[in-house]
Amino acid sequence: MSSQDIPEENLPSEQGTAHGAVSVADEKHPFADPGLPPHEHRIQDIDERAARRSERAVALLFTLSMLATVGFIVSYVAIPHDKDIFVFPIGHLSALNFALGLTLGVALFCIGAGAVHWARTLMSDVEVADDRHAIAAPEDVRAKVHADFKQGAKESALGRRKLIRNTMFGALALVPLSGVMLLRDLGPLPGDKLRHTMWAKGKRLVNMNTNLPLRPSDVAVGSLTFAKPDGLEETDEDFQTQIAKAALMIVRLQPDNIKDKRELDWSHEGIVAFSKICTHVGCPISLYEQQTHHVLCPCHQSTFDLSDGARVIFGPAGHALPQLHIGVDDEGYLQALGDFEEPVGPAFWERG
Ligand code: FES
Repeated sequence: MSSQDIPEENLPSEQGTAHGAVSVADEKHPFADPGLPPHEHRIQDIDERAARRSERAVALLFTLSMLATVGFIVSYVAIPHDKDIFVFPIGHLSALNFALGLTLGVALFCIGAGAVHWARTLMSDVEVADDRHAIAAPEDVRAKVHADFKQGAKESALGRRKLIRNTMFGALALVPLSGVMLLRDLGPLPGDKLRHTMWAKGKRLVNMNTNLPLRPSDVAVGSLTFAKPDGLEETDEDFQTQIAKAALMIVRLQPDNIKDKRELDWSHEGIVAFSKICTHVGCPISLYEQQTHHVLCPCHQSTFDLSDGARVIFGPAGHALPQLHIGVDDEGYLQALGDFEEPVGPAFWERG
């Protein structure tokens, strides 16, 4: 195949050092330039039918991207936000989120894949080495650019036609608001939901394992019991949301061992109830050391002293665990005497 059969864009350029070119060392350039390896033509460079096939493949990818974008817009308008679907193996998820993610992903992927395929098969792959030039333009070029800019500003009459200038600035300032409006789709603000849990005065403490209301006699010294509010069932739609805030850890201490006065006042016969949600980044705490009354979060080893207001004695947690004020009701069951006084969970104090 001669170079006359090859499209012009795939031939080496006149500029710079092309494939195979070498230079020898001399006084000015003490190191010889080995040049670039010889260029090998791709099948698309020498076979027009192969080039056409690549062209069709690239066009197909771009067309798929267009269809996916149309699908994204149709999904956004047509699919109700509360519709769920089952997708194997992920499980149940929002049909709208799934459709938006899928169509946007396909649209972006096809643009990227089309561009890569185009570059790899049809655009010139001839390597060219060029000498580095000074970055700054010569003085006369800079003076000309400066003069052109001033001339353009004068001809556009931007300074004289204040009405146009001001309305243009107004339009440019307002147009980003369209993007701000889209933030609405991030969902309703949490309001004060993070400040409250299901616990309220008179709500019984229910053992999470047996699902039975707890009496003081059910809590032995040295044991760690997990509890949830009466009425919260695993089958409830918002079970995970509620238990993530309301989960409790209950231990019985000797009243004499309780160092913190408020902790003692909020306990019942030495039984204390603390939030099970670590105040570092929200892991459930599950390890109790009965000799020291320390509980340990398994995620990053924050350690809390349950005999001293659950204050942090080690680790990255920034706050003591919130305590729930408890007592017993007329039938002798443990009950809450109110909600937590602080929001439970990680770092809420800094945020709110
Ligand atoms: S979440 Fe408990 S220590 Fe990090």
